[in-house]
Amino acid sequence: MPSRVTGAAWLDSAARNNGVVHLTDDPRLAAQALADGHLAAVPTETVYGLGARADDPHAVARVYAAKGRPADHPLIVHVRDADAAWQWAAAVPAFARDLAARHWPGPLTLVLERSTRAGDFVTGGQDTVALRVPSHPVFRAVLDELAAITDDPAVGVAAPSANRFGRVSPTTAQHVEAELGALLASVDVILDGGGSDVGVESTIVDCTGPTPVILRPGRVSHDDVVAATGLVLGDHSPVRAPGTLASHYAPHARVVIIDADDASRNHIDPDATTDTDARTGLLALEHVPTPPGIVRLAAPATVDDYARVLYAALREADALQLTRVLVVAPPPDGIGAAVADRLRRAAAS
Ligand code: TXA
Ligand code: MG
Repeated sequence: MPSRVTGAAWLDSAARNNGVVHLTDDPRLAAQALADGHLAAVPTETVYGLGARADDPHAVARVYAAKGRPADHPLIVHVRDADAAWQWAAAVPAFARDLAARHWPGPLTLVLERSTRAGDFVTGGQDTVALRVPSHPVFRAVLDELAAITDDPAVGVAAPSANRFGRVSPTTAQHVEAELGALLASVDVILDGGGSDVGVESTIVDCTGPTPVILRPGRVSHDDVVAATGLVLGDHSPVRAPGTLASHYAPHARVVIIDADDASRNHIDPDATTDTDARTGLLALEHVPTPPGIVRLAAPATVDDYARVLYAALREADALQLTRVLVVAPPPDGIGAAVADRLRRAAAS
């Protein structure tokens, strides 16, 4: 991959790590790489993202290539604050402002009519744009630095989750390195900001109709959206969110959803017993016992913990070369709805 001239000599030497993508914990390196049109995988409070300057078609094209993502699947543009976000939107209804005031910075993405800032290469050709103000302090430092370098307070970073298309999202820099390291260039950066706190992707709310519609559940729950807006939510939206496919977030192991009673009574699913050399894992809340012969992948104490460890546990199943993962979904309250959603999609593969 031919490199461009970088803005800082120190980055040039630092980023060339024997031709291997550079892993760093310095947000300035990530900001400079982005400013120069390279890629930076960045920590967010939800999952790690693979970032590019949202106004750079060449850099954004590299994100699609690294992920193996179809070009009509739009990206989320991450900005520093709501004022910056509104620069990317043509119209902002009052309820979107209410949501932003209550939940930004944080794990919430708003879909709005786009302004001319949002090019087709970032919106998948749609007339809408997805916007998020992240709360992770390390990513916020990157956005501040990038705004300073570019002299653009509304500068955006387009970033999908930093995984190959359809696979499990990463919640650590090591996950990103393992999955995408070989597909990035020596001028690109993976920024290590520790483990993601929320663990599942942001709640996406379509704000282009008369009332908000949740397109993807996340930490910001249905009740949170109602509380912030005082509105009854719509239940369908004309907006296309292609990333919310039935099959997504999938490990190589087959995911099978069971209920807690099956696990306790040691009645694993009927399929399971016919597959004699299957190596099976279990992911469930702490109180669900582990049947004999099954590898316990995680035993989270709370639903929040479940969300936080979910993707690492699915990755662990693959690392252990398990062929099947039995999962008991948590109660569907709060973030439990998002966990159950991801488990259903993982199981649909
Ligand atoms: O938590 C998150 O949202 C993470 C972090 C990195 O911010 N990002 C993330 O991005 O999950 P990604 O690309 O893996 O998922 C973005 C989702 C996709 O389902 C995509 O179709 C939808 O957002 N999306 C993006 N722009 C949209 C738009 N204009 N209208 C409707 N859906 C959109
Ligand atoms: Mg994703």
